[in-house]
Amino acid sequence: MKEIKKIAFGTDHAALDIRENVKEYLKDLGYEVIDFGFCGCGSCDYPDYAFKVAEAVVSRKVYKGVLICGTGIGMSIAANKVKGAIAAVCWDEDTARLVAQHNGANIICLGSRTATISEVCHRIKIFLETLFEERHSQRIEKIRHIEEMQVG
Ligand code: RB5
Repeated sequence: MKEIKKIAFGTDHAALDIRENVKEYLKDLGYEVIDFGFCGCGSCDYPDYAFKVAEAVVSRKVYKGVLICGTGIGMSIAANKVKGAIAAVCWDEDTARLVAQHNGANIICLGSRTATISEVCHRIKIFLETLFEERHSQRIEKIRHIEEMQVG
């Protein structure tokens, strides 16, 4: 029986118009979507959702994470504060593939104000389906080492 992969999903208010459609798209692809919010109120703070999704990813409760805000940038900055998170903004199909293949990204960050819904969905699909290439491991280990050296 095929394993159903879980995806941690979070957005802020900027992605309100597209969030349900993106979730449906992921479900149609066969993923189980764990939705960590937007809270449903008028506006919210993207770090709250970035943190929840990143925590789920690094604790391996899910396969990978998807974060959407206005540009993807705030989400990536916040998510990357969580030890073990590699959250990358992707601005086209190539970067969606390369962050998985070369950078070992475990979270994709996208912008609802900088991409169409179809671009957002397609980038997520590519990111989720692309595997890490082990020949890049040494570089990721060096990033982990920098993380380990941080105080606190
Ligand atoms: C919210 O208006 C906006 O600042 C946020 O969605 C995001 O683009 C930040 O990086």
